[in-house]
This record gives sequence, structure tokens and C-alpha cells, in this order.
Amino acid sequence: MGKVFVLDHPLIQHKLTHIRDKNTGTKEFRELVDEVAMLMAFEITRDLPLMDVETETPVTTAITKELVGKKIGLVPILRAGLGMVEGMRKLIPAAKVGHVGLYRDPQTLKPVEYYVKLPSDISERELIVMDPMLATGGSANDAIQALKKRGAKNIKLMCLVAAPEGVEVIKEEHPDVDIYLGAIDERLDEHGYIVPGLGDAGDRLFGTK
Ligand code: PRP
Ligand code: URA
Repeated sequence: MGKVFVLDHPLIQHKLTHIRDKNTGTKEFRELVDEVAMLMAFEITRDLPLMDVETETPVTTAITKELVGKKIGLVPILRAGLGMVEGMRKLIPAAKVGHVGLYRDPQTLKPVEYYVKLPSDISERELIVMDPMLATGGSANDAIQALKKRGAKNIKLMCLVAAPEGVEVIKEEHPDVDIYLGAIDERLDEHGYIVPGLGDAGDRLFGTK
């Protein structure tokens, strides 16, 4: 069964509160999502393998640590996942970026896929799927399926806010996928919005309505 990590670092929780606040405008919302993504990157990369290297400091020669050079791929779910890409890339600049375009039909709440473009070597990469919201779980479920269909073997999911329903869907459908979250909220409302949540992540990020 996949593990679920709620990242309770005070900086993440503080910034999340301001992201949730309805009075936070588009510019600040975008900046905060970027910052939280960077802080989450810190946690999600905790298990990256290290190797010993010999380093000459100004004082002596020492055995120090360097990343083994594991290949990472970032996969934002369009649109709102785009807001998390740059924050992650600040810490993992060599990561390649693939895109999965999905929107949730407002009537059925089912995701509709409209775009997939991925690095050619996804089967060799550790992929981090990013979306601020994990609500019914339909979009993340479909995005992960789209990646697996194309050969992905190693996938993590990273979201700012989740509903318990969405977490259960991913645990059931993708027991190999670990989930990294800023918070698990109470529930979904009748329109499939997370309560208390933060509203429509795409609209708040891009200023649409
Ligand atoms: C939002 C969000 C997720 C999805 C979550 O996207 O960014 O992708 O809803 O809901 P789910 O877990 O019930 O599938 P939306 O469909 O609003 O598209 P957008 O990013 O283009 O605005
Ligand atoms: N998508 C959003 O943007 N927000 C929600 O609360 C649920 C789905």
C-alpha cells in the first residue's frame, strides 16, 4: 500500500493558510504556491540516493556526499499543476518536465484528457505528479494511469490539499504510489469542491473565473 505523508513543516502550514485565505490575490497566491512547492520538494526528495565523492576543500581532502544522479521527471496536471513546477525546479534544476492536460467535467466530475507530452525516457525516471488539489481523485488517477500506460514505473504524487475521498482512490488504484500532501481536509461538497479547501486552484492561480 502506498504511504501518505502530510508535510507538517511550520513554513508549509503557515503558507498554506495564506493560500486558503479568500482575500489572497492572484499574484500572492502564485508566489505562495511556488514557495510551498519548493518546500515540499525538500521532503519529497528525502530518499534520493547519495554516493561518496572525494572533495578538495581549501583545508584538506575529504570524502563527502553527492547525488547519484537519479533521473527525475516533473509532471504537472494542467492547468493548476503548472503553479508548482518552478518551485520544484529551483531545487531540482536537472529535472525534465512532462505535461498531462485534464479538466474535470463540472457535471459528471469525471476528468477529460486533452493533452499528454512526456520526456521520452519516462520509464527510467522517478516521476513526481503535481496538482494543488486532490478532490475526488479522478484527475490524479487518470494522470497516473496515462503515465503507466506509457511505461512509467516509479511515480509519486504531490498535492497541496486533499479530500479523504481522493486519497482513498489513489491508495486503492495505485498502491505503488506514495502521496505527499500539505493537508487532508474534511470532505467534498456537492460540487466536488474540497471543504474547507482553497476554492478553484486554476482560477485563483491564473486569475480566471
Ligand atoms: C482541478 C485541480 C485538479 C482537479 C481535482 O482542475 O487542479 O486537477 O480539479 O479534482 P478531482 O480530484 O476531483 O479530479 P480542473 O478540473 O478545475 O481544471 P483546471 O486546472 O484546468 O482549472
Ligand atoms: N478542483 C479545485 O480547483 N478545487 C477543489 O476544491 C476541487 C477541485
